[in-house]
Amino acid sequence: MTENTKNTSIWDAGGFGDEDLTELALQENAILNVRKLVGEISEMKGRPLTACVRSFGCQMNARDSEKLSGVLLRCGYLLTDDEDADLVIFNTCTVRDTANTRVYGRLGQIHHFKKSRKDMIVCICGCMPQAEGAAEEIHRRFPFIDIIFGTHNLFRFATLLYEKLSGGGAGKNGTVIEIWKDTQQIVEGLPVRREYPWKSGVNISFGCNNFCTYCIVPYVRGRERSRSPREIIHEIERLSEDGVIEIMLLGQNVNSYGNDIPGGMRFPELLARAAEVPGIERVRFMTSHPKDLSDELIDVMAGSPKIADHLHLPVQSGSSRVLHVMNRRYTKEDYLALVERIRAKMPDISLTTDIIVGFPGETESDFLETLDLVRRVRYDSAFTFLYSVRSGTLAADMPDQIPHEIAQERFDRLLTEVQQIANETIARHVGKTMTALAESTDPKEPGMLSGRLGNNIMIHFPGPADRIGTMVPVRILKQHGFYYTGEIAE
Ligand code: SAH
Ligand code: SF4
Ligand code: F3S
Repeated sequence: MTENTKNTSIWDAGGFGDEDLTELALQENAILNVRKLVGEISEMKGRPLTACVRSFGCQMNARDSEKLSGVLLRCGYLLTDDEDADLVIFNTCTVRDTANTRVYGRLGQIHHFKKSRKDMIVCICGCMPQAEGAAEEIHRRFPFIDIIFGTHNLFRFATLLYEKLSGGGAGKNGTVIEIWKDTQQIVEGLPVRREYPWKSGVNISFGCNNFCTYCIVPYVRGRERSRSPREIIHEIERLSEDGVIEIMLLGQNVNSYGNDIPGGMRFPELLARAAEVPGIERVRFMTSHPKDLSDELIDVMAGSPKIADHLHLPVQSGSSRVLHVMNRRYTKEDYLALVERIRAKMPDISLTTDIIVGFPGETESDFLETLDLVRRVRYDSAFTFLYSVRSGTLAADMPDQIPHEIAQERFDRLLTEVQQIANETIARHVGKTMTALAESTDPKEPGMLSGRLGNNIMIHFPGPADRIGTMVPVRILKQHGFYYTGEIAE
C-alpha cells in the first residue's frame, strides 16, 4: 500500500444516528481542536506529523483500527506503516495470553523509539486494557504510554487525544486513562479510512451474550448490541458508491443479530438485503455460532450467488461433555446434523472452524471425539488453539487444568490431522473455474496476481496489475497445500 492510497480514501460511515448526533458533534469538535494543535506543531517542526495504527486482533479489531485511522487523518496526521512515528496506537486483543505477549513485545521497541523522541505519543486501546484491572497494570508496567482507553469509548479517541495534546491527563506522567465499564451507545457517522479500496468489513453487531466459559470477549466487548438494518444497508450503499465490491458482515455471533431489537430484522433477511445492494459482488460474514444457525439462513445462502460459498462454523470441541462445560449449547450430534443440513443444500460449500485443545478436564477420550468430528466433517481449514486461561472467566477457576505437555501433544496430533484432511478436501476444486477477487501482485514474481476465491482459499495466477480490486474468473490448475495456482479463464 503506498503512502498516497493510505491517505486519500476517507469518508463517513452511516449517518442516520440521530440519537448520537450530540456525541458525533462533540467528536467532530474535538477533531477540529486536535487539527489546530497538530497544524501548529507541524509548522514548528517544518514537516507533517505522522501516525501509525497497529491492529493485533480479529476483523472487528481491524475495523475499529480503520475508524482510529479515519480520525487521525481528519486530525491532520499523515498515516504511515512505520512505528517510529509521532503518534503510535496499538489496538489490542486479549483473547489468548499470546495476544497480550505480542503487544508487550512491541511496547519494548516503542519505548526505545520514545527515548529519542520525547514528544512521541503512544496510545494503547482495545480489548486488552478493557479487561478488569488491566489498564492500571499497563500504566504501572509501561508508564511512558500517553493514552490508555478501552473498547466501549473508542469513539472518544479525538477527545482523549485533545486532552493529551492540550496539557496531559490526570494519571502519573500525564497519562490519559479512560476505561468505561460498559455502554449501550453505538455512535454512527465517525470518519473511517479503509485499508483496501475494494473490500470492507461492516459491523452489524457489537459485543456478545454467549459467555462461553473459556472466553473473555463478553467481558471486554460488553453485551450484544445490534446496529439498525437501515444504518447497515446505508453504509453498504455508501461503500459500494465508493468502489467496494466485497463486504464482510461482522459480529461475534451474526446469527443472533437483531435479537435485542424486538420485532426487528433477523440475520437471514439482512444478509439477503446486503447481497442485493447494487455494485456489491460478494458478501461474506463472520462469525456463526452453530446454536443459532437457522434453516432460513441456509436457504438464503444457497439462493444467492453473491453470498460467498463459505461458512466459518466454530465447533471448539467434538466432545458433547466438554461442549456442555464450555456452555456452547449444542452437542456433537447437533453439530454434525447441522453440517448435514448445510451440505444437503450446498454440497460444495467450504466449511472452516475453530477448535480449542486442552480445555480444563479434557480427557484423552474427549480429545478423540474431537479428532473423530474433524474426520467426519472434513474441514477446508481449521484454526486450532491451545486453551489459554483468561482471568475472570468461569473456566479459569475450573479444576483439572490440563498440563501444557499433554495439551501440546494433542494439539500437534490435531494439527497433523486437520492439515492432511484440508489438503485432500481442497483438491476437489482443481480443474474448476471459479471467481477470485484479485488483491495484490507478488513482489517476488512480477506479473503474478494473488486473489481470494469465494471459499476463502488463495490463488496465484498470471495477470495484469490493473485487475487488482476486481473479480476475475480463474481456472484452478494446481493445488499447493493450502493455496492454488491457476490462470485467467476468459
Ligand atoms: N465469536 C467467535 C469467536 C471469537 S474468538 C465465535 O464464537 O466463534 C475466536 C476464537 O478464539 C474462538 O472461536 C475460540 O476458538 C478461540 N478462543 C477464545 N477464547 C479462547 C481461550 N481462552 N483459549 C484458547 N482459544 C480461545
Ligand atoms: Fe466468545 Fe463464545 Fe461469544 Fe464467541 S460466542 S465471542 S467464543 S463467548
Ligand atoms: Fe481479540 Fe477483542 Fe477480537 S479480544 S478476538 S480483538 S473482540
